[in-house]
Amino acid sequence: MKKILLAALAVFALNAMAADDGATLFKKCAGCHGANAQKKALGRSEVINTWKSDKIMSALLGYKAGTFGGAMKGIMKGQTASLTKEQIKTLANYIPTLKK
Ligand code: HEC
Repeated sequence: MKKILLAALAVFALNAMAADDGATLFKKCAGCHGANAQKKALGRSEVINTWKSDKIMSALLGYKAGTFGGAMKGIMKGQTASLTKEQIKTLANYIPTLKK
């Protein structure tokens, strides 16, 4: 019984780690921003893989807080609502590493 519990905990820990990985977190963004963040999302956003991490970070925190954005910021508010500050930081560090 104890072994099963430990195995379950290990699987849980692995899942938690995977969910905080930049590539995994970016999956839900790729549909609009492109696999390499190379597209204008819905034809409206800027191309963000040329942005620096701190610019991405403040944009995402701003969308989440409702203090940043253009005409379609409601979409990004929804995207960022469930992200933690740590996950936003991971994304902000990951996106500039994508192929231009
Ligand atoms: C449903 C489509 C969609 C998804 C999914 C999406 N975005 Fe966006 N994103 C947009 C649109 C549209 C804008 C422009 C919003 C505005 O008017 O401010 C935008 C803007 C941005 C901007 C600022 C760019 C600018 O032009 O100011 C960043 C950074 C960004 N998104 C990152 C992300 C990240 C990271 C994710 C995943 C967690 C994500 N987006 C998911 C559609 C999307």
